[in-house]
Amino acid sequence: MSESVGVIGAGYLGTTHAACLAELGFDVLVAETDAARVAALRAGRLPFFEPGLAALLERHTASGQLRFTTSVQELADHADVHFICVGTPQRRNGLAADTTQVRTVVESLVPRLSRTTFLIGKSTVPVGTAAELSELSRALAPPGVLVEVAWNPEFMREGHAIVDTLAPDRLVFGVASTEAEKVLRHVYASVLARDVPVVVTDLTTSELVKVGANAFLATKISFANAMAELCEATGGDVLTLTEAIGHDVRIGHRFLTPGLGFGGGCLPKDIRALMARAGELGVSEVLTFLRQVDSINMRQRRKIVEMAVEECRGDVLGRRIAVLGASFKPETDDVRDSPALSVAAQLHLHGALVSVYDPRSNTNAARLYPALHYADSVASAVTGAHLVLHLTEWAEFSRLDPVELLALVDEPRIIDGRNALDPRRWRDAGWSYRAPGRPHLNGA
Ligand code: UDX
Repeated sequence: MSESVGVIGAGYLGTTHAACLAELGFDVLVAETDAARVAALRAGRLPFFEPGLAALLERHTASGQLRFTTSVQELADHADVHFICVGTPQRRNGLAADTTQVRTVVESLVPRLSRTTFLIGKSTVPVGTAAELSELSRALAPPGVLVEVAWNPEFMREGHAIVDTLAPDRLVFGVASTEAEKVLRHVYASVLARDVPVVVTDLTTSELVKVGANAFLATKISFANAMAELCEATGGDVLTLTEAIGHDVRIGHRFLTPGLGFGGGCLPKDIRALMARAGELGVSEVLTFLRQVDSINMRQRRKIVEMAVEECRGDVLGRRIAVLGASFKPETDDVRDSPALSVAAQLHLHGALVSVYDPRSNTNAARLYPALHYADSVASAVTGAHLVLHLTEWAEFSRLDPVELLALVDEPRIIDGRNALDPRRWRDAGWSYRAPGRPHLNGA
């Protein structure tokens, strides 16, 4: 079996997966239609931030083990195993995922193949897509050339993508033949050698595993946020509640932190696409609860805006508000569907003078919301502020000294939208502190 593999798509998923395959020892060629991106990657420049990835890219591009091309023919000639890593964004006119890019990959690559080839999907797709792509591949394959589609969903978290790829919690192989299973076992041999569990299943189940996992994670977060609201209505403390229920091993502590809710390129899009697909399949009722999960999540953003308005005594017009954090979570510069930026933009629309600081994503955020002001440090963002909002829990913000910041702000008021700061430190320093689900801490 060839030690060469192909990757299609040099976005976040494709670039990370390709660099990790090179790290596993494969000779990797990545095909990407965006020539500027290919040029940047060839020069070892990463178009996004992911801890540790720049070093992998540099090492493997220098050794020639990781290469990038715009030529689909070069890709077809390079290997007989290709990973499909293109995007499946939410459609503009609805909740469903747009699978145009995965289809285009098959349409452009398959007619150029000249030997038996395995196309392995990693993109998150609506259930049934892999079977459709199998049919399309059969129809487009040159005479005598066998093309088999398999699915190998990714579970990587931004900010932890390398470890999630090289040492995952589990691998899932959706296959239609033992040959395809052999190919996947070969690709991941050194990962599997570390006793990583592997689930081998059919194409359909593998597609469902991915969306099922993300829907469950989203549900956990919205559950914690629903409990936070209950605590606000009753005077309870949500962090104590989640700590206590999380000790039950059937529940667990992770993904139970209440606050501003989930964002990013996956969770919001995936639960909406799953609901849309269930509707197409005539079983929308079984996923009605996901509507609630989505609406509780979106409600968190409005609630933080409402809290900010209350803290500004009913009107934010002309008030200076410092927003700490713009990325959808720490350790990434990704601002797609970022709850932090959405809150900042809403306050700006209400007439507040918003100053945003993020350790990594100011540039991406400014591209999306050019009307906001971006500061180059915490100190500059909070200077003269009437209110500080902590909206993405970067470690830099937990280390802030509330005493030092007192001298810079106009009014020492902070809303900890992520429940990630130590309330005692801030209150002891003389700040008025507020956080979702912890009403007993409200005030100074
Ligand atoms: C997610 C899945 O975790 C990953 O397995 C899948 O492959 C892709 O989608 P990612 O989008 O990188 O990964 O982010 P994740 O770490 O899951 O966080 C998603 C969002 O949930 C973030 O906005 C985060 O702030 C929020 N979150 C997470 C909470 O609000 N509370 C929590 O307890 C955990």
